[in-house]
Amino acid sequence: MTKGREATLTPMMRQYKVLKEMHPDAILFFRLGDFYEMFFEDAVVASRELGIVLTSRESGDDAPPMCGVPYHSADGYIARLVSRGYKVAICEQVEDPRTAKGLVRREVVRVITPGTFTDDKYLPEKGNNYLASVAPYQGSYGLAWVDVSTGEFRLHLCSRFPELVDELVRLEPAECLLPSACLKDAAFIGRLRLYLSCVLTPWDQGFEVEAALGILRERFGAEWRLEVGDAALMAGAMVLSFLTATQKNSLAHLEPPGLEDEVTYMGLDQASRRNLELTAAGRELGRRGSLLWVLDRTLTAMGGRTLRRWVEQPLVKLELIRERQDAVRELVGDFLLRQEIEAYLKQVKDLERLAGRVAYGTAGGRELQALRQSLEMVGPLKEVLQRVESILLRRISARLDGVEEVTGLIARALVDDPPAGVKEGGLIRPGFHPEVDRLREAVNHGREWIAGLESRERERTGIKSLKVGYNRVFGYYIEVTKPNLPLVPEDYERKQTLANAERFITPRLKELEQQVLGSEERLAALEYELFQELRDRVLSVLPRVQGTAKALGILDALCSLASVAADYNYTCPVVDEGDRIEIHQGRHPVVERVVRDKEFVPNDTVLDGGSQRIHIITGPNMAGKSTYIRQVALIVLLAQMGSFVPAGFARIGLVDRIMTRVGAADDLVAGQSTFMVEMQEVAYILRQATRRSLVILDEVGRGTSTADGLSIARAVVEYLHDRVGSRTLFATHYHELVELEEYLSGVKNYSIAVREEGESVVFLHTIVPGGTDRSYGLHVARLAGLPEEVLRRAGELLDGAPRGSQGGRKEEDREVDRPEGTGGKSGRIKGVEAEVLRELEEYNLMTKTPLEAMQAIFNWQKKLSSRRRSDRQEYQLRWWG
Ligand SMILES: Nc1ncnc2c1ncn2[C@@H]1O[C@H](COP(=O)(O)OP(=O)(O)OP(=O)(O)O)[C@@H](O)[C@H]1O
Ligand SMILES: [Mg+2]
Repeated sequence: MTKGREATLTPMMRQYKVLKEMHPDAILFFRLGDFYEMFFEDAVVASRELGIVLTSRESGDDAPPMCGVPYHSADGYIARLVSRGYKVAICEQVEDPRTAKGLVRREVVRVITPGTFTDDKYLPEKGNNYLASVAPYQGSYGLAWVDVSTGEFRLHLCSRFPELVDELVRLEPAECLLPSACLKDAAFIGRLRLYLSCVLTPWDQGFEVEAALGILRERFGAEWRLEVGDAALMAGAMVLSFLTATQKNSLAHLEPPGLEDEVTYMGLDQASRRNLELTAAGRELGRRGSLLWVLDRTLTAMGGRTLRRWVEQPLVKLELIRERQDAVRELVGDFLLRQEIEAYLKQVKDLERLAGRVAYGTAGGRELQALRQSLEMVGPLKEVLQRVESILLRRISARLDGVEEVTGLIARALVDDPPAGVKEGGLIRPGFHPEVDRLREAVNHGREWIAGLESRERERTGIKSLKVGYNRVFGYYIEVTKPNLPLVPEDYERKQTLANAERFITPRLKELEQQVLGSEERLAALEYELFQELRDRVLSVLPRVQGTAKALGILDALCSLASVAADYNYTCPVVDEGDRIEIHQGRHPVVERVVRDKEFVPNDTVLDGGSQRIHIITGPNMAGKSTYIRQVALIVLLAQMGSFVPAGFARIGLVDRIMTRVGAADDLVAGQSTFMVEMQEVAYILRQATRRSLVILDEVGRGTSTADGLSIARAVVEYLHDRVGSRTLFATHYHELVELEEYLSGVKNYSIAVREEGESVVFLHTIVPGGTDRSYGLHVARLAGLPEEVLRRAGELLDGAPRGSQGGRKEEDREVDRPEGTGGKSGRIKGVEAEVLRELEEYNLMTKTPLEAMQAIFNWQKKLSSRRRSDRQEYQLRWWG
C-alpha cells in the first residue's frame, strides 16, 4: 500500500490496519455485520485455501482484495485454515453497533492456532490436541504440554535430546512453541524436524526462572510447587503466557500442572512404540491392526484417552499395577456389574471437552444439558459401585461427584431441548424466572391476538380476501385488494401501496406489535443474561466436573480391559520383582484376531536373568518368528499396564524398558537410509538397556552385506550377554548365530518348527528348543508367486550349480553367503590372503633367525598390501575406466 493511499484510508480500514499489525502472523477475521472479512494478503491466502471468491469493496485497480465468510458458518472455515497450519485471529465488534457512536469498537478476542483449537466437531474424538512448548535451559530441555480442549497440563524435564524426541513423538502435538533463537538454529530444527511435523511457533519470554515460577503461581496459587527442573518451569510459564496472550479468557479449566514422572512409567522409545504397533499399524498408520484397536472398547471419550495413555505408558510400580489388576479382575468376574456400569457410561458425553467449552465461554444450552445428563449418571453409578471391593474401584466411586446442586439448577433453568444459539431466547424453562414468564406471556398474548385478527377483521369488514401479514421493514399490516378498498373501515391507516392491494394498520395492531417486538427483545436479553449466570455457576464447579471426568475415564478404561479379557480368554498375569518372564500358551493379541482361516498356535516362553537370558530364534521365513517375539513384548506390556494377557498363564518379572528393533524401517523422508536407521536404533538400545530391560531384535544386520551384518549381529549378542545382561529375544536368519549357545552361558537356541510334506512345507508355528539351518526362503518365494524360471535357477544355485553360468554376483559374496558345513564357519578365505595364511602356518619358526623371520613378515605384508592396492585400482578402474 502506498503512502498516499494510506492517507485516504477509511477510518474502518485504519482500525483494521492497527489490529492486523498486532497479529502479523495470523489471518485476521474482521467482523463486519454478519460476516468475517479478510483483506489484502490474508484475503488472497484465504480465498486460495478456502475456495472462496476474491472481491473488493472499492473499484479500481489498486483496491484492496478482500473476501469474507458468513459469521454463522465460520467454524468450518476456521477449522480448515487451522488444520492446514494457519493461525486465525478473531476480531469481534465489542460494542453494540446500534448504540455505538461513530465507528464500532473492535478487538481481537481470540487467536486460534493448531494447538489451541477447541472445536470438538473437528478434533479426534478419543484423542488429545496438544500444544507443547520446549525450553532449552542449562543443558536440559523443559517440556510442557497442555490440551486446552480438556484442561490437561503437564511438565517434564528431559535431560537429553533423544528423550525430548521420544516424548514429543508420543504426544504428537498439533503445535510446539520454541524460543525464536531455537527456531533459527538450523541444526537443532533439522534434528527436531526428523520426528516432528507439527507447526512450530516462535514464542519468547524475556524472563528467568524466578519469573517463570511467579507466572505459574499467579495462575495456580502461591502454594503451587513441583519438584521439577528449572527448564520445565520455564516451559510451563511459556505455554501459560502464550495462552494468556492468545486466548483472552478465564482458562478456568486448566489443571495445575502435574509432573510426568518418568520413574512410574516404563521406558518406551518412539521406535519401539512404532515397531510394536501400539496405537497405529501398517503402512498407513491407521488404528486397525494396532494393540489399541483390540483393546479399545471404551464408551466415552475420556475412557478412550485414558486407555490410549495406559497403552503408551505402562507402569513400573508393582502396587499401581496390582491395583489396576484387582479392579479388572473384579470387573471380569462380575458380568452384571460390568454391564450395569457400561449402560450408564454409554450415556456420558465428553465431559472434559464440555468443561473446556464452559471455560472458553463457548458452551451453549445444548452443552450445559449434555453436561447435566452426563453428570446425572454419577448417582446411579455410585449406587452400582457400592458393592465393589477393589481399592481402585472404590477410589473411583469416592471421586465421582455428581455436582447435584448445579445439575439441579440446569434442570430447573433450561428447557430440555435448547436451541443452538444463546442470544435468541427460547432457553429458559417456564416457571424458572417470573420476568421471563411475564414477557413470554406478553409476547404470546400479543401473537395470539394478532393470529385471531384476520378472521375477526374479515367478519367485521366482510372482506373475504383480507390478510394479516408481517415483514421486517413495515412490521405487521392488514392487506386489502384494490376491488375491496371501498369496504375498508374508518380506523384503518394506510401504510403501503402495492400494485393491486393496499396495506393498512390499526392503532391497536400497532400497540400490540410494539408489545410483541419489545417484549421479544427484552426476553432474549434477559434469557441470555440468565444463561450466562448459569454458565458462570458451572464454571465455579469446573474442577469437580473435571475430577469426575477423570474418574469416569479410568472406570471406562478398566471396563474395556475387563470386557476384552473376558471375551478373548485372557488371564491375570502374576507380576513380581523377579527376573523371570514365564509365559504358558501365550498368543499375539492382534495376530490372533486377524488370522482368519486358521487357529492361532499358542507358544511358551521362559526368559530369566541366568541361563535363559538370550534366545536366538531361527526358523523358516513365514514361520512366525517376528510374531512370536512381539507377542512376548506385548504380553509384558499388557501385564504392566494392569491388563490381563492372552496366555494360559504368565509370570512377569518387572521390566523397566521394552526396546525393539523390528523389521527394516526406512525413514527416507527424514533423510536416513535403511541401514542407518537400523544401526541408530541398535546403538540406542545398547546404550539404554539395563539388566531389567526386555530387548526384542528382529533380523538385526540385514540391511548390509551378509558378512558385515553377521559380524554386527554376533557382536551385538555378545555385548548384550556380557555387558548389559538384559532379557533378549533375537530372531534371525543368520543360522551361524546358533553356535553362540556353545560358549555364552546365557544364550539358548530356539526355532520354529515346520513339517516337510514332499515338495511342500507346513508351518506349525510352534517354538521348539534348538536351532535350525534352513530358511525355506524358496518355498515362501513360490508361495509369493515368483516366476517358475527364477525359482528353478535359485534352486540350482542353492544346490551349488556351476558358477558364472548366468553372470550374477561376485564370487566372494557367494562364498560368504553360503557357508560350508553345518556349524557355518562363514567367509572362507581365499586368494593372496589364503596363500599368506598357509605360508604362515607352515613357517618353521624354530629354524629361523630373528632377521629371517622379520624378512618373512615383511614379505607377507607386501603381498597383502599389494593385493589391497590392486583392489583399489580395480575399484578406480571400474569408476573411471
Ligand atoms: N502362532 C501362530 N499361529 C498362527 N499363525 C501364525 C502364528 N505366528 C505367525 N503366524 C502367521 O504367520 C505369518 C508370518 O509370521 P511372521 O511374520 O512372524 O514370520 P517370520 O518368521 O518372522 O517370517 P520372516 O522370516 O519372513 O520374517 C503371520 O502373518 C501370521 O499370519
Ligand atoms: Mg520376520
